[in-house]
Amino acid sequence: MDRVGWGIIGTGKIADKFVQDLKRVPHADLIAVGSRSQSGADTFGGRHGIPHRHARYIDLFHDPEVDIVYIAVPHPGHAPLSIQAMALGKAVLCEKPFAVNARQAKDMVGEAERIGGFLMEGMWTRYLPAMRRVKALIEEGRIGSVCSIEANFGFLAPEDPDGRLFALELGGGALLDVGVYPVSLAVGLLGAPDTIHSWAKIGTTGVDENCSAILGYRNGSQAIIHASIRHKTSQQAWICGTRGRILIHAPWWRASHVSVWTGEDPVEETAEVPFEGNGFQFEIEEAMHCLHEGRSESAAMPWSDSIRVMEVLDRIRGQWGLRYPEDRA
Ligand SMILES: NC(=O)c1ccc[n+]([C@@H]2O[C@H](COP(=O)([O-])OP(=O)(O)OC[C@H]3O[C@@H](n4cnc5c(N)ncnc54)[C@H](OP(=O)(O)O)[C@@H]3O)[C@@H](O)[C@H]2O)c1
Repeated sequence: MDRVGWGIIGTGKIADKFVQDLKRVPHADLIAVGSRSQSGADTFGGRHGIPHRHARYIDLFHDPEVDIVYIAVPHPGHAPLSIQAMALGKAVLCEKPFAVNARQAKDMVGEAERIGGFLMEGMWTRYLPAMRRVKALIEEGRIGSVCSIEANFGFLAPEDPDGRLFALELGGGALLDVGVYPVSLAVGLLGAPDTIHSWAKIGTTGVDENCSAILGYRNGSQAIIHASIRHKTSQQAWICGTRGRILIHAPWWRASHVSVWTGEDPVEETAEVPFEGNGFQFEIEEAMHCLHEGRSESAAMPWSDSIRVMEVLDRIRGQWGLRYPEDRA
């Protein structure tokens, strides 16, 4: 495989973890970092030994040695920066949630189509070995048809009204930050729901701090999701079918254990699917594989799924009247 030059924009928590895993991937060259400031680029670049350190994101998009940009800024930056990077000829791996709303997600895909470029959502859970195991179990018919999904992602975030988890203008709230994982699981396995019933506790900064939704399907299936930035939940995901059930052990979005019970064989079978590092190497490998094959999108997280997930998130928060500045554009 040809070497691939990576550029990172945003120098926060997730960029740090991502870069640790990038170093594990053969043929991945960490070329550049872009920050809103020279000091930010220099600090991050120095810590990770990155040769090109840009004081503006746009300068990284012009860097001729960068093939693919990893977008690791707060949600409102995802769409505009992905579109700008693609327009300047770069492939893009954009952090979750793909955008703030479905309109932005469609604009991103529109730009990728216009230039024939590569674009992928960094919904890293989808590329983990444990999730591949779950997909295989379902495709083998081990649990029959999927009837219900119960998945949650709740954690206790430090109190910070100006931080990206709580600030409305930074796309704050539990649903977009962590609810996107169970919604993506449901959409990936059951598709777009026909009905949605949801509830949220909106906090003093105007964002949802604790929320749940029941996604209903005309065929009788359902997905029950719960997200919180105010408390830790069981962090498990259950997938129940007509013949059995699967447990993706906590924390399910970076699972290394999957158990299955089947109707005829009620004994639990647990598979260990461990990995080293933080788990980002699998999405990095997938993006590089797609680039190598000349693909514009990943089959594991196609554009249509990224848009559908955003549509479900729009519908859920629409029931609470939660609007972000991007919804007015
Ligand atoms: N896949 C995962 O597991 C995972 C986990 C956590 C977060 N994420 C996603 O990654 C994105 C970043 O999350 P994070 O936890 O890394 O955030 P963070 O620690 O707050 O860092 C975000 C970085 O973005 C840049 N930035 C650009 N505009 C900003 C603004 N207006 N305010 C604050 N920072 C701004 C800053 O870097 P510079 O100043 O250097 O430009 C900052 O360091 C989010 O969209 C989140 O959903 C994904």
